[in-house]
Amino acid sequence: MCGIVGYAGHRDALPLLTGGLSNLEYRGYDSAGVALREGDGVTVYKTVGEVDALRAETPETSEATVGIGHTRWSTHGKPTDENAHPHTDCTGDVAVVHNGIIDNYDALKAELEEKGHTFASATDTEVVPHLVEDELAAGESAKEAFQAVLERLEGSFALAMVVGESDEIYLARKDSPLCVGHGDGETFVGSDVTAFLEHAREVTYLENGDLAVVTPDGVTVEHDGESVERSVEQIEWDADAAEKGGYEHYMLKEIHEQPQALRQALSGRVDEMQGTVELGLDLPAEYLRSLEEIQIVACGTSYHAGLYAAHLLEEHADVRVTVHVASEYEFRGGRDPWRTLVVAVTQSGETAETLGALRDAARTGARTLAVTNTVGSSVTRAADDALYIRAGPEIGVAATKTFVSQVATLALLTVHLGRVRDTLSATEASEILGDVRGLPGAVQRALDADEQVQEIAEAYADSEAFFFIGRHLGHPVSMEGALKLKEISYDHAEGFPAGELKHGPLALVTDETPVLAVLTDGANADATLNSVKEAESRGAPVIGCASDGRGEKLLDAGFDVPSLGEMEPLVANVYLQLFAYHVANSKGRAIDKPRNLAKSVTVE
Ligand code: F6R
Repeated sequence: MCGIVGYAGHRDALPLLTGGLSNLEYRGYDSAGVALREGDGVTVYKTVGEVDALRAETPETSEATVGIGHTRWSTHGKPTDENAHPHTDCTGDVAVVHNGIIDNYDALKAELEEKGHTFASATDTEVVPHLVEDELAAGESAKEAFQAVLERLEGSFALAMVVGESDEIYLARKDSPLCVGHGDGETFVGSDVTAFLEHAREVTYLENGDLAVVTPDGVTVEHDGESVERSVEQIEWDADAAEKGGYEHYMLKEIHEQPQALRQALSGRVDEMQGTVELGLDLPAEYLRSLEEIQIVACGTSYHAGLYAAHLLEEHADVRVTVHVASEYEFRGGRDPWRTLVVAVTQSGETAETLGALRDAARTGARTLAVTNTVGSSVTRAADDALYIRAGPEIGVAATKTFVSQVATLALLTVHLGRVRDTLSATEASEILGDVRGLPGAVQRALDADEQVQEIAEAYADSEAFFFIGRHLGHPVSMEGALKLKEISYDHAEGFPAGELKHGPLALVTDETPVLAVLTDGANADATLNSVKEAESRGAPVIGCASDGRGEKLLDAGFDVPSLGEMEPLVANVYLQLFAYHVANSKGRAIDKPRNLAKSVTVE
């Protein structure tokens, strides 16, 4: 859940490290710190708070050309100065930053305390520098010491270490991400490429079990004690794409990037005339024809994307689809693993529960597919195959453009399956593809109505609670609308199938609780209008995202969704994102970094 950076080169390491940490703050931001290799020793600066708080604690420049840094999201121990990384040993010459959890730290800590080590923090990480200290004292080199300690650690980790006696950075990776950027006479380290994108575009991703040594000249990697070559990949993302680009918040920028994100997702993959798609997947036709079930595993917004896709897949590819909140997933009886495809939907590719579910499925013998935004992420290594949604970097904690890109990409997968399984004719496939290709334009029309959404959002911002209703494809969108609003505005919001309103939630509906309804194609709009009437007759203001002028007379406010078949609820979702954004912004919320949340949830 934390972010790691590192630098070895010829420039002042300090501003490069703090700059990298700012880029990674979306991974967690309750405390931050750096360790600089200076003279024969290591200097550590760390503090609770965001990276700006760290900047206030450090000098403006330093002599160091090697260092590591960390931005933290607590797992063990509260956010305090002591618990902030880097952690050091008793001598202060070994500094370590860590992302993940060391499961056996209790036993290791007890053993070290017995030997006289004293600990300054309540973290699991602190055992690592102390273990290294003992190995160094026994005469091992820094690398040997690091290697010996890694063998004793259980759990998941990305680790970076500097020691006083060496100009190198030592890295290790097990189930938490870590990559290395190659500059000119300088080498960068990051939990992901966002850390150093403005300085280096050639990247080496470390694999699970790798131990790497970083110098200004590059990186050497060992695996199981053997030297290995890891490939260098070129990152195409534009550095500007990772910045706010003139918008007040990353989230708003990313909402407005959706037409572009969609074009990227579709680019080179769709032949609308032929009714075919090319996804470059290694899924043999025979296997796809024999499929009995697709199980989608995901969390949060990605789970909502999975629910949307499940309707499409069942309808057009005639395959049973079950959608699982990843933390609740079990490969239960009555399923043939050979005829089950497990699809992990995760924008970050690092969500621990989704990874865990995917690995459980793989153990049963099921084939696995990752649908993700992040090339080289853990899920792409764990799955048999990966399908990228190509949304570009998403910095705002609240997922926006990745949701629509996930659904659009899964819609392409649906068409592919439908054609291979002969459940979709070329004409039917062309129609679906036509709607998918219409998404960028339709989403743009919704974005062009931003001012209208802002006005309505501000008018209702101080309501007691918000309810979101929809049916069929409108149901996942109603859940997503509520999730977006609650996470960034901290208001109470609930999304549920419209038909359920009368089975309980209606008791909460008053003139102080706006109801937002999805009234589009693909969302059983006529039936939902009955629910709208139920809400309206209790005095609730009703706001509709509607195509074909549905419900005009009933609605207190309406957002116009252009005609786009089963993709219409996705356009409704854009209005709901803007609505959530403007409610939250009118309250001055920390929209890009909502309290208690982090972008990438790498612990269970
Ligand atoms: C909500 C949000 C989260 C994520 C969830 C899964 O806006 O961003 O609910 O969707 O944590 O994350 P990924 O897709 O990275 O697996």
